[in-house]
Amino acid sequence: MELSITVNGAPHVIDVRPHATLLSVLRDSLFLTGTKRGCDEGECGACTVLVDGYAADSCIVAALSVNGSRVDTVEGLGGQHGDLDGLQRGFVEAGAVQCGFCTPGFLMTLTAFMRENPNPAADEVRMAIAGNICRCTGYSQIVDAVRIAVANRPQ
Ligand code: FES
Ligand code: FES
Repeated sequence: MELSITVNGAPHVIDVRPHATLLSVLRDSLFLTGTKRGCDEGECGACTVLVDGYAADSCIVAALSVNGSRVDTVEGLGGQHGDLDGLQRGFVEAGAVQCGFCTPGFLMTLTAFMRENPNPAADEVRMAIAGNICRCTGYSQIVDAVRIAVANRPQ
C-alpha cells in the first residue's frame, strides 16, 4: 500500500506492508537509523519521533495511520551542515550522551516538550522524560542538558 509522508521536510511516497510500523519505514525504507529500535513494544522511548509536532513511539504507530503527516526525526534537528541544535549541544555539554542509544529518543521527546515549555523546572523535565529509559546516565545529566540549553538560548 502507498504511504505519503513528509520526513524532516522532504516528501516521500513509499510502498509499505499493511501492518508496517512507522519505525520500520523510517529505518528500513528511508534508512534513517538515528531513530532506535529498543523494546519494539512502546516501553522504552528509544524510537520517539515527532508526528505533526507531537512525540510518538514510532514502534507502535502503524505507518499507514500517519499517511499525509509530517514526521520529524533526530536527523532533522541540527543544521544543514551537521551543526547541533541548542538541545543537542546541551546534551554534549552536560555529558548526557554515554552509549548514546537512548539519546535520539530523549532529544525528540524534549524537543516537543520544550516547544510547549520553553523554560521548564527540573521536576517538569523529569516528568516529561518519564517514558524514556536510559541505562547509563542516571538521568540527572539529561535534566542538566535542558537547563544548559535554556541558559544558552539566544535572547
Ligand atoms: S522501541 Fe519503541 S518504545 Fe521502545
Ligand atoms: S546513554 Fe546509554 S542508554 Fe542512555
